[in-house]
Amino acid sequence: MKRNEEDVYYGDYLQLDKLLDAQHPVSGTAGRAAAHDEMLFVVVHQVYELWFKQILHELRSVVCLMARERIEERSLGTINARCARIRKIQKLLVDQIDVMETMTPLDFMDFRDYLVPASGFQSVQFKEIEILLGLKGEYRIDFDKACFYSRLTEGHREYLQGMESGPSLFELLDRWLGRMPFLDYEQYAFWDEYRGAVDAMLARDRGIITGNTGMTGGEREAELAELEKTRERFDTLLDEGRYEAARGRGEVRLSHRAMLAAVFIHLYRDEPILHGPFGLLMNALEIDELLTTWRARHAIMVQRMIGHKIGTGGSSGHGYLMRTTENNRVFLDLYNLPTFLIRRSDLPALPDEVKRGLGFYFGGGEGDV
Ligand code: HEM
Repeated sequence: MKRNEEDVYYGDYLQLDKLLDAQHPVSGTAGRAAAHDEMLFVVVHQVYELWFKQILHELRSVVCLMARERIEERSLGTINARCARIRKIQKLLVDQIDVMETMTPLDFMDFRDYLVPASGFQSVQFKEIEILLGLKGEYRIDFDKACFYSRLTEGHREYLQGMESGPSLFELLDRWLGRMPFLDYEQYAFWDEYRGAVDAMLARDRGIITGNTGMTGGEREAELAELEKTRERFDTLLDEGRYEAARGRGEVRLSHRAMLAAVFIHLYRDEPILHGPFGLLMNALEIDELLTTWRARHAIMVQRMIGHKIGTGGSSGHGYLMRTTENNRVFLDLYNLPTFLIRRSDLPALPDEVKRGLGFYFGGGEGDV
């Protein structure tokens, strides 16, 4: 390996002088008693911000690759690898809450009042991650929307609002799914075949319910009513007009074409050409799940630290954070998608022409999606 002109020194390369000189607890200054646990509070937050930085590094590159007109299989591999790295980091972020929880509420009270009005609300990198994933202003709950204006500096607000006009992972995933080539074949109406398989499945389920002698009449009625709701969900999926109306009501977020493509990828994910696309759907789903898990863990930790007190940023604290946990789901459609899956053995067999179109046969050079 080629040596550098000048020797590199560990601490210089990592700029440790700067990094390790950035922990300045405010207790212990201005005549206040030093609170031992404030150092932990500062270090844990800083470590989070460093990991946010790395997540953003990966996420920006994923968004950049996804924004291309055509995504080659090789790029899809890179995208999936970077998403996998994000997931690993997110796991650390969830686990790190354990370290924070070694501090007790009384220890926290020794310095908490000095922090007002600073708050996690003001973590610009956290908001950047949310926006890049697809949580833009219109999807935020009211208090969160208001904080965008009242709790951030003008510079940060303008920066984040500027980001909102750029593409997010959600939008790019929607666009990419929407241009998948396999939905229109002149000779083969896949969704008609699928509808037939769904009807057969629902008829079978109805037979199981009506033939179950262990249920009371009321229980049977209730199960049949649920089955009817499942049929209606399929009707909505397979009718663009109904689907778009549901989208208008905010019940689904993916476009109709994108949703059909996502269902198709799930159904035929055993086909080699769909391994990469299926991996990407799983990555989006798991990134959402890990962020939601972090939100829930953070909210519970907050309850343990401050009970029902309001946050230093002025929210209701635990209550507000639980609402964001419930509300701020970017890829919720991917969670609801299994509603539309049918058993492998009931799947319509794809004609050779369709398989060829999909690039299931190697050497066709049609593997790009
Ligand atoms: C003793 C520990 C902690 C307490 C008591 C706490 C408390 C809170 C509270 C009450 C909020 C709601 C906003 C407010 O009214 O201030 C909040 C938001 C937030 N906190 Fe923490 N927090 C703690 C640790 C952390 C850590 C270690 C991080 C890591 C970066 C963090 C990141 C955030 C973020 C990003 C938000 C905004 C969440 C959103 O608006 O959805 N917090 N925190």
